[in-house]
Amino acid sequence: MSKMKKNDFFKSQLGVVLAAAGSAVGLGNLWAFPYKAGANGGGIFILMYLFFALCLGLPVMISEFIIGKNASNSSSIRMFDRIPTENEKRPVFFKSIGILGCISSIMVASFYAIIAGWSFEYLLMGITEGYSAFAQGPEYASVYFGSLVTNFELSTIYGVTFIVLTLCISFFGINAGIEKMSKVLMPLLVVILILLLVNGVLSGGFAKTVNFLIFPSLTSFDGTKVNIASAALTAMSQAFFSLSLGMAGMITYGSYMPKESNVISTSLKIVTFDTLVAFLAGFAIFPIVFAQGLDPAQGTGLVFNSLTVCFANLKLGRLLGILTFSLLLIAAITSLVSMLETVISAVIGGTKIERKGVVVVIGLFVILGSVLCQPALGLSASFLEFAADNLMDQFDQLTMNMFIPFTSLLTVLFVGFRIRKDLVISEFRSQSLGNKFYFYIRFVLPIILCFVMFIGLKDLFT
Ligand code: PHE
Repeated sequence: MSKMKKNDFFKSQLGVVLAAAGSAVGLGNLWAFPYKAGANGGGIFILMYLFFALCLGLPVMISEFIIGKNASNSSSIRMFDRIPTENEKRPVFFKSIGILGCISSIMVASFYAIIAGWSFEYLLMGITEGYSAFAQGPEYASVYFGSLVTNFELSTIYGVTFIVLTLCISFFGINAGIEKMSKVLMPLLVVILILLLVNGVLSGGFAKTVNFLIFPSLTSFDGTKVNIASAALTAMSQAFFSLSLGMAGMITYGSYMPKESNVISTSLKIVTFDTLVAFLAGFAIFPIVFAQGLDPAQGTGLVFNSLTVCFANLKLGRLLGILTFSLLLIAAITSLVSMLETVISAVIGGTKIERKGVVVVIGLFVILGSVLCQPALGLSASFLEFAADNLMDQFDQLTMNMFIPFTSLLTVLFVGFRIRKDLVISEFRSQSLGNKFYFYIRFVLPIILCFVMFIGLKDLFT
């Protein structure tokens, strides 16, 4: 730790939990989870999601924290050179956890900022003129959304503004920036979510929502059969993404943990909180959609197209809209900060460059990435055309379905087969529990993960 300044740590256990929860709760929970659940059969998707979050997500998170906590360098790339391992053998291969983590972080940050930028536009609209124009109906809403997405200048301005806002927090570092921000924004996020939930319960669509989200069915809302293989891969990668795993994010935050932090209870708290928020987001959003008779399975535009129509038709719609888009932005900023921190700390720990300079350079990279990802620019990487036809969706597919599960696999293999066994076992209250965990991450988890990746990718490619 000698090279890290004293200031570059989380000061309290609460700070660790709030910052990691802030990283986990993001657009993944509030925007992606409801639309993916809607498009993949509701209850059946949620059941698979729960399974993956608990049986794979939790152990992967524990593994990431164990790596970070035992590292003597906060760079997720450099730390693999010195971390205490069995027989002092450290195949360079495992460095790819940090390298892939940083690449994924830049790719995800690039398209994440665009979506956050759109939320920004809708928030400003709520504040300045309200949503009454959307009373014209869902067609108007989707034309409006389409015109925003295809307006290169506008969409870029909002996206870049959002990145700059995030960089301002990164500038102040771990304690004065990330920890302080999380202590203010996370409670605010919970309050807004509860208000939206109360509204959901009181609106006419709550019973239908319960039916849709709780009871598993193999038939989607639109009558089509749910494709289990692709729904399983989507649920697994969504669980990893939502928990900020497979991108070296929790490895990085783990390296800022005070040494007395309890990895297991911290992970349990974050997994519970993150899953709860995703569920509550579903229970806040779908009742409004059902009450207005709109389609819950419409995909990525769910929040922007459906909800705005609802906000136009409801009595307190303008206020609800402002709250909803504020919620999205708060969640997005605490997540983007963490993605950028992975890359920033990798550079700071690997070189001796000052934080402020690194923040500016990484910021410029992400700004460039987000400009290139603008769907309006129409760029597409020809070798990625199997995934989608624009760069934003290609980055999304590549990171979600391949890089994140693969990096998570490498992470548990590293903890299961390389890092010193006593460092893993000592995190657990009893030796026997530690041994069970050790066996599970060595022989059971990798098999489940490979199986889901195999059937899901096979389905994607055929
Ligand atoms: N977990 C965040 C979300 O749900 C995304 C994220 C992934 C943030 C990886 C940081 C690192 O939106």
